[in-house]
This record gives sequence, structure tokens and C-alpha cells, in this order.
Amino acid sequence: MSKVHTLDHPLIQHKLTYLRKKETGTKEFRELTDEIASLMAYEVTRDLSTQNIEIETPIAKTQSEVISGKKLAVVPILRAGLGMVDGVVDLVPAAKVGHVGLYRDPETLEPVEYYCKMPTDIGSRELIMVDPMLATGGTAVAALEFVKNRGAKNIKFMCLVAAPEGIEELQAAHPDVDIYTAAVDEKLNDHAYIVPGLGDAGDRLFGTK
Ligand code: URA
Repeated sequence: MSKVHTLDHPLIQHKLTYLRKKETGTKEFRELTDEIASLMAYEVTRDLSTQNIEIETPIAKTQSEVISGKKLAVVPILRAGLGMVDGVVDLVPAAKVGHVGLYRDPETLEPVEYYCKMPTDIGSRELIMVDPMLATGGTAVAALEFVKNRGAKNIKFMCLVAAPEGIEELQAAHPDVDIYTAAVDEKLNDHAYIVPGLGDAGDRLFGTK
């Protein structure tokens, strides 16, 4: 069973509070999402392996650590996941970015992939899938299936707010994928919005309604 990591750092929690407030406008919402994603990425990348290399400071030769081994890929689920990409890439500039987009077929209610473009070496990268809201889990489960079909293996899922229902669904379908979230909220309402949540993350990020 995968783990759920709730990142309760005071800076993350403070920014999340302002993100949730209904008065927060698009500009601030975007900035806060970016900042929280960066702070979360710091924790999500904690187990990246490092190696010692020899360098020379102005004073002496020394051994010092650099990141080694597997490289990173960030994969936003379109569209709201886009708001979290820059925050991660700012910290790991060498990361490649894949994209996955899906919609729900109105008749079968099955998720249908309309876009999926991954780095060619996706199988040898650590992948961080990002989407602000883990609500029912349906989209995340399908998006993870799509990237696994393209060869992705080491995957973490990072969101801002998760509902217990979505966590359960994701863990059942992808027990190998750890979940990193800034908060686990109470429940979903009848319209599959997270309560208390923050509303529609995509609309608030992009100023649509
Ligand atoms: N997607 C959102 O943007 N918000 C929710 O509360 C649930 C799904």
C-alpha cells in the first residue's frame, strides 16, 4: 500500500489558507499555487540520490555532493496541473515535462485520453504527477494508467488538497504510487467538490468560470 505524506510545514499551511479563501483573486491564486508547489517539491525530492564529486573551492580541494542517478520528469494533468509545474521546475531545472489530458466520455463516463506526450526516456526518470485536487481519484487513476502504459515506473503523485475518497481510490488502483498533499480534507460534496476545499482549481488559476 502506498503512503500518504501530508506536508504540514507552516509555510505550506499558511499559503494554503490564503489559497482556500474565496476572496483570493487569480493573480494571487497563481502565485500561491506556484509557491506551494515549490515548497512541496523540496520534500517530494528528498530521497533523490546523490554522489560525491571532487571540486575545488577558492581555498582547497574537497568532495561535495551532487544529484545523481535517475533524473526527474514532471507531468501535470491538464489543465489545473499546469499551475504546479513551474514551482517544481524552478527547483529542478533539468526536469523534463510531460503532459496528460483526459476527459470523461459523457455516455460511458469512462476517462478518455485526448493528449499524452512524455519525454522519450520516461522509463528511466522519476516521475512526479501533479494536479491540485485529488477529488474522486478517477482522473488521477486513469492518468497514472496512461503514463504507466508509456513506460513510467517510479511515480509520485503530488496535489494540494486531497479528499479521503480520492486517496482510497488511488491507493487501491496504484499501490506503488505515494501521495504527497498539503492537506487531507473532510469529504466530497454531491457535485464531487472537495469540502472545504478551495473551489474549482482550474477556474481559479486561469480566471475562467
Ligand atoms: N476539482 C477541483 O478543482 N476542485 C474540487 O473541489 C474537486 C475537483
